[in-house]
Amino acid sequence: MVVTTGSDGITPHEGWSSRSAFILAAVGSAVGLGNMWRFPAEAGENGGGAFVLFYILCVVLIGLPVLLSEVLIGRHGQSNAPESVRRIAAESGKSSKWAILADFGVLGAFMVLSFYCVVGGWVLYYIGIFASDLVSTGLAGGAFEGRPAGEIEGLLPGLFGNGALMVGLHVAFLATTLFFVARGVSSGIEWVATWLMPTFFVLFLGITIYGASTGGFDETITYLFTFDFSKLTGPVMLAAVGQAFFSLSLGVAGMMTYGAYVGRDVNLASTSGIIASADTAVALIAGLCIFPIVFAAGLEANAGPGLMFQSLPIAFRDMPFGSLIGLLFFIMVFFAALTSSVSLLEAPTAWFKDRADLPRAVATTIVAGSALVLGALAAWFWGVPVPGVSSMALFEEQDLFNVLDTATSKVLMPVGAILTSVFVGWIASRRLIDSENGLSGGLEQIWLFLVRFACPAVLAVIMVVGLMG
Ligand code: PHE
Repeated sequence: MVVTTGSDGITPHEGWSSRSAFILAAVGSAVGLGNMWRFPAEAGENGGGAFVLFYILCVVLIGLPVLLSEVLIGRHGQSNAPESVRRIAAESGKSSKWAILADFGVLGAFMVLSFYCVVGGWVLYYIGIFASDLVSTGLAGGAFEGRPAGEIEGLLPGLFGNGALMVGLHVAFLATTLFFVARGVSSGIEWVATWLMPTFFVLFLGITIYGASTGGFDETITYLFTFDFSKLTGPVMLAAVGQAFFSLSLGVAGMMTYGAYVGRDVNLASTSGIIASADTAVALIAGLCIFPIVFAAGLEANAGPGLMFQSLPIAFRDMPFGSLIGLLFFIMVFFAALTSSVSLLEAPTAWFKDRADLPRAVATTIVAGSALVLGALAAWFWGVPVPGVSSMALFEEQDLFNVLDTATSKVLMPVGAILTSVFVGWIASRRLIDSENGLSGGLEQIWLFLVRFACPAVLAVIMVVGLMG
């Protein structure tokens, strides 16, 4: 691990060992279940093309400027997210109350962590299924001995019906996350990001190319990329912007926290561009991988959260070496999810460790323990509408899992992003921002315009039309 000096010039501060290690870790945070599990599910539930194209627009015009703003705050502040905001506010002669934007973020990260680890548990379940399938059916043929698609599709609802198993798997996934975060920034997180993310890209691409050759591809292209303006309703726009934030790990202090570990020699603008491109590429690959299977097998595109878990195993059934490839695939998804959950745990941990002056391992354990309880409740009460809350229009009939998802992606993340862009665009001193953003000339003007005017205004409008539904 590399130890650099904090912005006060005295406190030693953990850091990434190199620029590429930071990029990999930030890409690792961005690329995760949000791309493979949430993106196809949201695209399907929101009617395909209109959602997808609006999502891409959100990534470029809102996500990217906010991403740069968050990393910039972290690197300049050199501390946990709220403290970084406070330091920049103080340096700019403004109120320290702005730190509240990051406090909200830390809360959001904690909430996402709780339900994220439940889905991480589903991934573990499928690893188990493919491992036992490999042992029982051998290497050569497809998976599940050609059992009918309906039976394979039924595996996930089977898990949903078993609360104890879901809770157990959630705990197992969270415990693994805890293990990595407790080991510290570079030794734990970097290792996973450096070695496993690139391997994952290659495997995922291979499966997509194979899938594309087996049918359903033309239908997928039409479905994902035909823009039907009439489908672009307020709720669809809010879902798309929420997905952009979720996928880029924005609005929940995560990228601020990681930004604090970046060296001064790193150009934050180009790095943000790399992170956003890689993240969007993986989401689109996921769409191109999953929807052909959905169409070819006659599944419903709007099947919701189960889409990835129910469609891909059907493709592995028909593939040569299907059990092995299925096993490898879910192991890779597990690691992609881990590099994201690690960043979700890191944000509240960094906050708590500094606030309560606790050793890293203790702070991590307390935060993880709390997420364990909240996630366990979400898993146990799967499908049970939350009393009181679920009568509100936004959370209509939703269980705890979905309430946590909706509250973060449709409220906390956009609000966090509005506050972040206002803070960077209007509150922080221009000199400070200029020295950090890595931009110059026309690009800097465009970025400033987006952060000052476009992001807050467009987000506010989308939130209003989206929430009024
Ligand atoms: N971006 C991650 C994913 O797509 C999830 C995440 C959200 C991670 C917010 C950190 C902060 O899986």
